[in-house]
Amino acid sequence: MELGVDYYPEHWDKKDWENHARLMEEAGIKVVRLAEFAWAKMEPSAGSFDFRWLDDAIEILRKRSIKVILGTPTAAPPPWMTAKHPDIMPVYMQDGTRFEAGGRRHYCVTSPEFRDYTRKIVIAMCQHYTDNPSVIGWQTDNEIGGPRCYCDNCAGAFREWLKVRYGSLEKLNEAWGTIFWGQIWSDWNQIPVPREKVTYHSPSIRLDHLRFHSDQVVSYHDIHVKAIRALCPNHFVTHNCMGFYNEVDYVSLCKTLDFVSWDNYPGDYASNTWHGKEIGAHADYMRSVKHMPFTVMEQRSGLPGWLDIMASGDRPGQLRLWTWQTVAHGADRVIYFRWRTSRFGIEQYWHGILDHHGIPGRRYQEVKRVSKEFAALGDRAVGARYTANVGIIHHPEARWALEIQRGSPDFDFQKHMRMWSAGFAHNHAGVEFFDPSDEFTGVKVLVAPTLFLCDAKLAGKLKDFAEKGGTVILTFRSGVKDDANVVVDQRLPGVLSAMAGCEVEEYTAMVRGEKFPLSFSAPLPKKPAQAGVWMDQLKLTGAKAVARYEAGPWKGSPAMTMNKVGAGRVFYTGFQADEPFYQSFSRWLLSDLDILPPFAPSDTIEITERVKGSDRLLFVLNHSGEAQKLAMPARRAYRDALTGQKIPKSLTLKPYDVRVLAAISAV
Ligand code: GAL
Repeated sequence: MELGVDYYPEHWDKKDWENHARLMEEAGIKVVRLAEFAWAKMEPSAGSFDFRWLDDAIEILRKRSIKVILGTPTAAPPPWMTAKHPDIMPVYMQDGTRFEAGGRRHYCVTSPEFRDYTRKIVIAMCQHYTDNPSVIGWQTDNEIGGPRCYCDNCAGAFREWLKVRYGSLEKLNEAWGTIFWGQIWSDWNQIPVPREKVTYHSPSIRLDHLRFHSDQVVSYHDIHVKAIRALCPNHFVTHNCMGFYNEVDYVSLCKTLDFVSWDNYPGDYASNTWHGKEIGAHADYMRSVKHMPFTVMEQRSGLPGWLDIMASGDRPGQLRLWTWQTVAHGADRVIYFRWRTSRFGIEQYWHGILDHHGIPGRRYQEVKRVSKEFAALGDRAVGARYTANVGIIHHPEARWALEIQRGSPDFDFQKHMRMWSAGFAHNHAGVEFFDPSDEFTGVKVLVAPTLFLCDAKLAGKLKDFAEKGGTVILTFRSGVKDDANVVVDQRLPGVLSAMAGCEVEEYTAMVRGEKFPLSFSAPLPKKPAQAGVWMDQLKLTGAKAVARYEAGPWKGSPAMTMNKVGAGRVFYTGFQADEPFYQSFSRWLLSDLDILPPFAPSDTIEITERVKGSDRLLFVLNHSGEAQKLAMPARRAYRDALTGQKIPKSLTLKPYDVRVLAAISAV
């Protein structure tokens, strides 16, 4: 395991570089990421490359045994380029105007000129650095995906993409249902890139456009990967992804990469109350994209902010806690963003390990402590498998369809999905996310939150999972649409109805914020809960009701069902509830399946496990500012993996503390 920093030597006077490298070495920094936005400096005019400054920086780092990951700099096209080819810059959806130079990510993935310039800079960098002994790998671009572009180049490419997908205009018109409002396209050239309109485009053209955009991003990104693979066969290639960010399908994007990298900015996200669980879910998704350990390419290391400070500062200890939390979820390498806070540009408030003045302070000391702890743990966690008995389906296309039509102003797909994962995390059960294209193996439970789009193949895989003894959990707004984003002509949940053993009689969104109480029956726990956001009235067609509405228009009707399918079962949940429901339901389910981890449920203490051979490492993280006590399981003994000390039956965790424990044996 190693620690690193994102370093921009070009932001600092050359005379500071030596001191930076010394301080890095003293803090135990083993790797830096360089160059990702430095295109204008590396190619100051078309076709003339200058890597001397970067060579010098790498040489100073080499003397301190610090390795280098190079970023391809394409997220920041140089001004000379966009001035010469304005149509490199993307066009906004809202009003069709073009971006302008001066920020970043102002390029269109379709632009042939930009693809050409990209190929040239990546090849030039690869040729220059393939034999440099300090360079170990590459990060492509930076946080690729947006902006979605609505320019004429994209319109042309979109039409070609549609031709391949549908084969003929007749088929496209039929699939999209263009008879509605007489939108029958009679020539491919009539089809627009769907910009925003007062009367809205059809959900079908919009979903295909989001698919098209994602495919364009992937094919643009492959230009980087192909060049690096061809010229630098000894280097790894990765990309810094952003958790559940969804403007590109990460599973497709990362297919050609060696491993996934993640940019982790705790505190950017909504609420602090289930903070740990929310970040943990992003980390779980990042691990799940390739079902293997990942690198954290950017780890928040200070106050974040552009115009304003965006989140409160890390409390002493939290930087260490967040670093270990990523390891607890599958990181093998953690790189802090950024080494030293920039004095200029829009990120003056985005703090790094060092402040603007460059004098080491509390955060530097914390990093130093973590690097000592990483050294104490050695390679024990590297490559270790994350223990997860629960799977959650993450279907990018279903998410896009929900982005287009979420169905209720109060419905937030990500929140709904994370409520399920947080329920399991509350009980310390690990979660693995699955793409529809994955094999659903290694878990006992499969939750498919709001599977808005579902085809027969996916339905078949879920049924198969249940038949072999698994537990499948379906929810409201599932099986609603076909691949063309058109509503199915069956009762809901459509292709999932037979396995659910129930059908939706009527549905409603609770747009006035109403909530109705639920009553549960055996075998579910009878904890009180309320249905909100969405409500299905269910009709039983073979399943048994395990919850009913206690009030409201459908008083007495089934709200949740359980159906036996082969050796397993399928639950259907016709409502969204509050957090405690997901916590108590998952606790019941885990215990029913005999996979309940032997720790008290907790809002503040997070526990995960990674296993390598017979070495079982337990990560215990206290996300609160108060000391916490944790009762250790009676039948297992642990040592502190960093100090070797035996762990007592009651473990005390200091505020924001982390303990890494190793199971000794079953006693
Ligand atoms: C990330 C990005 C970094 C930096 C950071 C802080 O999303 O990759 O380059 O901008 O945010 O704003």
